[in-house]
Amino acid sequence: MNLFIVVSASISLLLAILIASLHLLHPTLYFLTWKKLPHSSSSLVADLIIRNGVIYTSDDSLPFVNSMAVANGRVLRIGNNSFVQAVAGYGTQVLDLEGKVVVPGFIDSHVHFISGGLQMMQVGLRGVKEKEEVIRRIKEAVQSTKPGSWILGGGWNNDLWGGDLPAACWIDDITPNNPVWLSRTDGHMGWANSVALTLAGITNLTDNPRGGTIMRTSGGEPTGLLIDSAMELVASQIPEVSIDDRRDALQKASNLALTRGVTTVVDMGRYYPGMSADLSWEDFTDVYLWTNAMSKMKVRVCLFFPMVTWPRLADLVNKTGHSLSQWVYFGGVKAFADGSLGSNSALFYEPYQDEPDNYGLLVTEPDALLNMTSESDLSGLQVAVHAIGDRANDLILDIYSSVASKNGMRDRRFRIEHAQHLAPGTPSRFGKEGIVASVQPDHLLDDADVAGKKLGDDRAEKESYLFKSLLDSNALVAFGSDWPVADINPLSGIKMAVKRTPPTWNDAWIPSECISFEDAIKGYTISAARASFIDNDLGSLSIGKLADFVILSTDSWKDFAETASASIEATYVSGIRAYP
Ligand SMILES: *[C@@H]1O[C@H](CO)[C@@H](O)[C@H](O)[C@H]1NC(C)=O
Ligand SMILES: *[C@@H]1O[C@H](CO)[C@@H](O)[C@H](O)[C@H]1NC(C)=O
Ligand SMILES: *[C@@H]1O[C@H](CO)[C@@H](O)[C@H](O)[C@H]1NC(C)=O
Ligand SMILES: *[C@@H]1O[C@H](CO)[C@@H](O)[C@H](O)[C@H]1NC(C)=O
Repeated sequence: MNLFIVVSASISLLLAILIASLHLLHPTLYFLTWKKLPHSSSSLVADLIIRNGVIYTSDDSLPFVNSMAVANGRVLRIGNNSFVQAVAGYGTQVLDLEGKVVVPGFIDSHVHFISGGLQMMQVGLRGVKEKEEVIRRIKEAVQSTKPGSWILGGGWNNDLWGGDLPAACWIDDITPNNPVWLSRTDGHMGWANSVALTLAGITNLTDNPRGGTIMRTSGGEPTGLLIDSAMELVASQIPEVSIDDRRDALQKASNLALTRGVTTVVDMGRYYPGMSADLSWEDFTDVYLWTNAMSKMKVRVCLFFPMVTWPRLADLVNKTGHSLSQWVYFGGVKAFADGSLGSNSALFYEPYQDEPDNYGLLVTEPDALLNMTSESDLSGLQVAVHAIGDRANDLILDIYSSVASKNGMRDRRFRIEHAQHLAPGTPSRFGKEGIVASVQPDHLLDDADVAGKKLGDDRAEKESYLFKSLLDSNALVAFGSDWPVADINPLSGIKMAVKRTPPTWNDAWIPSECISFEDAIKGYTISAARASFIDNDLGSLSIGKLADFVILSTDSWKDFAETASASIEATYVSGIRAYP
């Protein structure tokens, strides 16, 4: 026994030296080998033991334990208190959970992480009900903004304060040295101050551009409010976001995620139809590569890139493998099939009820989608496509099935992002054809009220957010937030998936589609990990995986499961406390 330890310890030491020297010679080899180290190395002493808790592992082979040991940032042992205590040694830190519930670190399967962080640096006016509060928030922003720099933000809704449209004169006296640009919640109006109007060259004499309106006083003077295409006059003056601001945005986004128990995000990038695909690559190089190299990553990211750039990602993955470090993973490529429900651009078989000639929009040519999906798949990349309307979902499923039969059997985990409205019979295709449904329970907050108006109550009830039907068909269902479109908040998403009851509702919306509490937690943990091919390292508290976990405020699993309510007490990444 002792001899075995000595022998295996010296083998590990030799191995470590060998790997370290390989690292010097060839960085890729290092990436290939280091992951296996914690399993084979005989680190028998724990760095950290958490005990006396209710630890839910998301691992069906051992779902509940009282204690867990961590070594080298990974799970060393799980089980009852005494079994785990056996790996304590000199220097082991012990944390008594006092009965609290612990769950694996949450994985948010769909975010726009840098965009979200950038929005946090701007003035947030969503939900503000008083004109005075709007002005107060802008005043606050002035204090933290250098003279000459733009003050940006939005989300204001004049209906909330009685309807008065805002004007430059509301804020000109408090913003004499900064251009200001604040968009309305629906994105169809923008509010500029006089400095911004001057920069944009908008005067009494400026004509309305085609498709847009410059609001004016009865005397013909621009008020500061610009509608639709007139917004471009000001928007085009705003400088590109600096590298420093984007790096800062990642830190802010990461800190927020940690407060919500999120330890990994799947970042779909800053890419929307019509936008340059280069932006995602600039964020990768300027922000993620840099932050990773500086050892400043706080949350793990799995990155998806615009599908039109698949050769670039294929090349990168070929050179570096599927991760850059245990912080930065390469997911795959993403494209768009259609638009959104809110803007009547999701693609349906039947027209919108409030717009009888409109069936929605196809935003990428099906032939191009088929070609790129096939090429990406042949290069071994995972493919994710945004589809919201019933027809867009079927179209993508058809493309996936034709690519799968052409390129042959393989574990490819094709994803559909949103999968929001599905025709009868479509949920079963997800299960049968092995397609991942990457869905966002918190979008119910907006859509429960809107879907009936847009689709008609009957169609909305048959087709919307069919989480239970998807699970019953054996589909892999991964949860996410789509932050900053919705809040980044897995506990809220879990509750929504279980209860389907938005705050203004008394009963569940489509109660037959409520799912079980454990399935909802899996949607944010192990299923999310599988949906991004990161389940070797993440998604459950299983031996050898990275020790990312969350301590909750509750000490009763039963209460937690019934109410789906708790708050985050602490978030650990690699066994190290990252929040608070
Ligand atoms: C603790 O776990 C170990 C290993 O699974 C088992 O052998 C032992 O009986 C357990 N002890 C108690 C008190 O349940
Ligand atoms: C624009 O119109 C306003 C209101 O009629 C007037 O006071 C102002 O002098 C005009 N400005 C210019 C540059 O013509
Ligand atoms: C990956 O690299 C190998 C060897 O360097 C090369 O033969 C292969 O064609 C590359 N594949 C892609 C998709 O670039
Ligand atoms: C995709 O399109 C390119 C350019 O037209 C073509 O060369 C290639 O063979 C196509 N690939 C597939 C899989 O259809």
